[in-house]
Amino acid sequence: MKMKTSLRLFLLVAVATCAAGKPLSKAADRNKLLLVSFDGFRWDYDQDVDTPHLDQLARDGVKAKYITPPMLTMTSPSHFTTITGRWVEDHEVVHNMMFDPKTNLKLPHKQTLKQSKWWDNGVLPLWITAQNQGLKTASFYFPGGAANYSGQAVDRVRVTDAGHPDDNETEWRQNIDTVMSWFADEDFDLVTLYYGEPDNVGHAHGPDTPDRKRIIRQIDRTVGYLRDAIGRHRLNDSLNVIITSDHGMTTVKKRPQVDEIVLNKYLNLLKLVSFEILDYGGFGILTPRPGREQEVFDALSGAPNLTVYRKHQLPESFRLAKSQRLPPIVVVADLGFNLNSRFIVYVNKGDHGYHNGEMDMKMIFRAFGPDFKKNFVSGPFDSIHIYPLMCKVLQIEPAPHNGSLEQTQDLLLHSGGGSQRGRLSAALLLLLITSTLL
Ligand SMILES: *[C@@H]1O[C@H](CO)[C@@H](O)[C@H](O)[C@H]1NC(C)=O
Ligand SMILES: *[C@@H]1O[C@H](CO)[C@@H](O)[C@H](O)[C@H]1NC(C)=O
Ligand SMILES: *[C@@H]1O[C@H](CO)[C@@H](O)[C@H](O)[C@H]1NC(C)=O
Ligand SMILES: *[C@@H]1O[C@H](CO)[C@@H](O)[C@H](O)[C@H]1NC(C)=O
Ligand SMILES: *[C@@H]1O[C@H](CO)[C@@H](O)[C@H](O)[C@H]1NC(C)=O
Ligand SMILES: [Zn+2]
Repeated sequence: MKMKTSLRLFLLVAVATCAAGKPLSKAADRNKLLLVSFDGFRWDYDQDVDTPHLDQLARDGVKAKYITPPMLTMTSPSHFTTITGRWVEDHEVVHNMMFDPKTNLKLPHKQTLKQSKWWDNGVLPLWITAQNQGLKTASFYFPGGAANYSGQAVDRVRVTDAGHPDDNETEWRQNIDTVMSWFADEDFDLVTLYYGEPDNVGHAHGPDTPDRKRIIRQIDRTVGYLRDAIGRHRLNDSLNVIITSDHGMTTVKKRPQVDEIVLNKYLNLLKLVSFEILDYGGFGILTPRPGREQEVFDALSGAPNLTVYRKHQLPESFRLAKSQRLPPIVVVADLGFNLNSRFIVYVNKGDHGYHNGEMDMKMIFRAFGPDFKKNFVSGPFDSIHIYPLMCKVLQIEPAPHNGSLEQTQDLLLHSGGGSQRGRLSAALLLLLITSTLL
């Protein structure tokens, strides 16, 4: 009798403590997160191809109608916004081509992957913020994953070799197996996994071609493989997955359909400009020679099928004007036009880099796992809001960012978060025991 009383007392205190919100062991109910990016997966690529596995995902989880990348609609800037939750003007990865206008140095994306100075501009990506709060993270080919930030490296990094084919389906599956074993056998909390398709096919053949449909079928099979692999590794109840992209793709307009843009027709590039990145789709940057800025601006203002901006006059919605790295003149072509500099040597049949308001620049978003709603279709949102969502799922304190959890918490089953749910179920369990015993 005496024992029973003290037991009752103990249980009542325990219930009260839990209900009062004292967290249980922090990691106990934290689920893992896999972020997958398929480069250049336009929002509607699954609508004219049979995609049974992506369709199943929509039933298993959440699908957004589409989501909007930041300006610039390019691989490195957009991926880095997703992983930092910061606008491009803050994180300063302002082009795929890394560049130094003082020396005229230009380095393609794949050559800068291990050079921290291009990526580490004072903004911390999610990997590092999560690691600083005790989590284990990895990057598999994800842009920015191989750099150090404030001297810190991501716990585990795989870097793609320049020139290595991006479309080998066997390797895609091997990469999934590798990532699943990191989660299941080594207890990683966050892994970001990047695929270079359907971007390559979109550029080489154009978005509205049988080749693009073929690669979407390959991606769909890979998504099916991912679902099976999650089951095989018994991660169904502990792994959340977000599948998204960095931008869309549009068909490049060529002669005779249109008069292609050749900028040298409107201004003498050699005479007026000291640094340029042109011949790179629909987005261009220029540094005028000293005292020639007005001339460059006026000459391009008269050119058809493009919009020219002085950096400090860029629309606020672009979130680019504050960038230190961006040159003084920015040119955005109308959808489908390429900004050729002197000659038309441009071979791409599809491209991106255009205004992020264009539907062709929008991209996919899917999510599933224990923390996400089932069979839920969300309205469109900006990709910058993925960052606070990821922090919420991982139960970590976000670094300063420009996203808003209000835009994405609707996708979650319990927008109060996992720890609340853990407390509640622990309290219920104790109540159950109490009433059984007493
Ligand atoms: C990151 O830091 C580690 C340890 O200081 C160093 O070994 C590595 O080379 C650095 N990596 C990069 C990309 O700077
Ligand atoms: C694809 O990758 C697998 C595994 O690495 C390799 O055996 C195969 O030869 C590759 N196929 C092609 C076409 O490169
Ligand atoms: C886990 O997911 C796989 C693949 O969707 C499914 O076959 C399996 O039944 C699931 N297992 C559980 C326990 O939900
Ligand atoms: C491109 O500019 C020309 C000249 O202003 C105009 O006639 C044409 O309609 C434009 N093309 C497109 C596709 O907007
Ligand atoms: C984005 O977030 C950073 C960090 O909080 C802040 O300094 C910056 O002003 C924000 N940008 C905008 C446009 O609100
Ligand atoms: Zn691309």
